[in-house]
Amino acid sequence: MIRLAILISNSGTGTNLQAIIDAIENKTLKARIVTVISDKKDAYGLTRAGTHHIPTAICLAKEQLLPLLQAHKPDYVCLTGWKLIIPNDVLTIYSQRILNIHPGLIPDTIQGIVKNPDGTEALWNKGKFTDTAIQNFLTAKATYAGSTVHFLSNEFDFGPVLGRCFEKIQPNDTAETLYARLKKKENHMYVQTLKKLCNT
Ligand code: GAR
Repeated sequence: MIRLAILISNSGTGTNLQAIIDAIENKTLKARIVTVISDKKDAYGLTRAGTHHIPTAICLAKEQLLPLLQAHKPDYVCLTGWKLIIPNDVLTIYSQRILNIHPGLIPDTIQGIVKNPDGTEALWNKGKFTDTAIQNFLTAKATYAGSTVHFLSNEFDFGPVLGRCFEKIQPNDTAETLYARLKKKENHMYVQTLKKLCNT
């Protein structure tokens, strides 16, 4: 069974974690969550993990991450709103095995541009986090919001793309209404991506 470590924070509410838990429990995702690690003590995802009897740990400094991971021998490390820097030793040891979800459209090449379904240029939102990224879609008057699942690399908010999703922006959207719809697509995409990696 493929072993997953899910890394969470209080920047989200653990919806991606919950989607992965649900897919494992309904047996459509063949994997096991061996640990949920949070970089903040007040992350709601810790409560979600507790409800499902999944071991949790708190990692307040980036130097603590490698030993915490190594204690659980994960095959994949899944970031969902994680805020601490991933140290180089972790990146090297888990090369092409750390997944991240980013609320922006990451191109395949560093100079590349992703197109929205209507042909307009999609926003990468490089360096932007959660609510700030969603607000940027609205401020820039983009036609679509979107998120990307990718393998982590040395380049910030960049790396081999595993999946993208788009959500059309509606005239009356606020950051809250838009993010609520995009999150549903993120949750589905993260699970689908893990199915491709784990269900072999
Ligand atoms: C997700 O929306 C993800 O795109 C974002 O954190 C959220 C976590 O939500 N990641 C980033 O902003 C990374 N740059 P969740 O706690 O509901 O899974």
